[in-house]
Amino acid sequence: MATKRMLITGGAGFVGCNAARYFGGRNWNVTVLDNLSRAGTDKNLEWLNEGTTFDFVHLDVRDRAGIDRTLKEGRFDAVLHLAAQVAVTTSVTDPSADFAINALGTFNMLDSVRLNCPEAVFIFASTNKVYGKIAGAATELSGTRYRYADRPHGISETEPLDFLSPYGCSKGAADQYTLDFARIYNIPATSFRQSCIYGTRQFGVEDQGWVAWFAIAALLRKDITIYGDGKQVRDVLHVNDLVRAYEAAIRSPEKAAQQAFNVGGGPQHTLSLLELIDILEKRLDRKIPLRFDAWRPGDQQVYVSDIRKLDTLLGWKPEIPVTEGVSQLCAWVSQNKALF
Ligand SMILES: NC(=O)c1ccc[n+]([C@@H]2O[C@H](COP(=O)([O-])OP(=O)(O)OC[C@H]3O[C@@H](n4cnc5c(N)ncnc54)[C@H](O)[C@@H]3O)[C@@H](O)[C@H]2O)c1
Repeated sequence: MATKRMLITGGAGFVGCNAARYFGGRNWNVTVLDNLSRAGTDKNLEWLNEGTTFDFVHLDVRDRAGIDRTLKEGRFDAVLHLAAQVAVTTSVTDPSADFAINALGTFNMLDSVRLNCPEAVFIFASTNKVYGKIAGAATELSGTRYRYADRPHGISETEPLDFLSPYGCSKGAADQYTLDFARIYNIPATSFRQSCIYGTRQFGVEDQGWVAWFAIAALLRKDITIYGDGKQVRDVLHVNDLVRAYEAAIRSPEKAAQQAFNVGGGPQHTLSLLELIDILEKRLDRKIPLRFDAWRPGDQQVYVSDIRKLDTLLGWKPEIPVTEGVSQLCAWVSQNKALF
């Protein structure tokens, strides 16, 4: 197979650098585009340099002329658009920057793809936040966790959109633009509505990336605050499984184009906050002190993705068990304490 060319925006971030490593090792010529605004991106680039050949473009997705230049020169066969303002909390304090990066930045990417490389497969990293509170899904408490009363498979793509928070709005607008550019301009574009993704190279902080944040805080004896009762549940997906889902979509654009997919661990890969603390306590063989505070606005008791559409259309299922993924994450944190 001839080498193909892939652009990964946000490629120095958590998901991006894992994707760059994966595709760089599989006959893809990878270009990483990033403005390096996220803490830890310099470390991720160093790590990428150790194991992969790639080109780096230091650019902001708000810079339309720079994006046009990059896409014109790049002749890309695939574009993974991951660059984003990623924290709900930051979007509330600075909605203007959130809009410019997530909504306008994605528009810049799509419009530039339309003009410069309309045949490139385009994948947008959307979010489960496009579904908002999902008021129609009743929940009940069961032991250490909440669960859906009547959604055994989780939340599907047919759930009504209900953007909540500026982040939900900016990513939701970008999600809809992605699907509409696919329909109107026939660009093979797909939106992945990602649930909680975790894994190595995630510089999790309290506001974003909770699985990594708990592991980092527990191992480095930093204070952990639980907002709510800690029994809230999320489906969690290892980043290597996510990257395989991107690959499945890139391989079958005729099936993936114009589609939104919920992608997460699904009902088989879920964790409550307290269950993760329990796994970490067993690993460290000590109690982890916790502080409890009020629920954060908009925080759901449960979110679990229904991932059956990805399986049916693209033959994808998550493979990495939560215990194995968390153990790998903890090993990475303990071997790299100086990074945090
Ligand atoms: N990690 C998750 O659990 C999760 C869940 C749902 C959706 N997502 C989406 O997946 C994508 C990747 O997330 P991540 O966890 O790797 O986040 P991350 O913060 O590690 O990576 C985002 C990258 O984008 C870069 N960036 C930010 N603003 C930019 C700009 N204006 N121009 C160019 N680059 C910019 C950052 O420097 C960073 O490297 C994001 O779009 C995010 O919204 C992530």
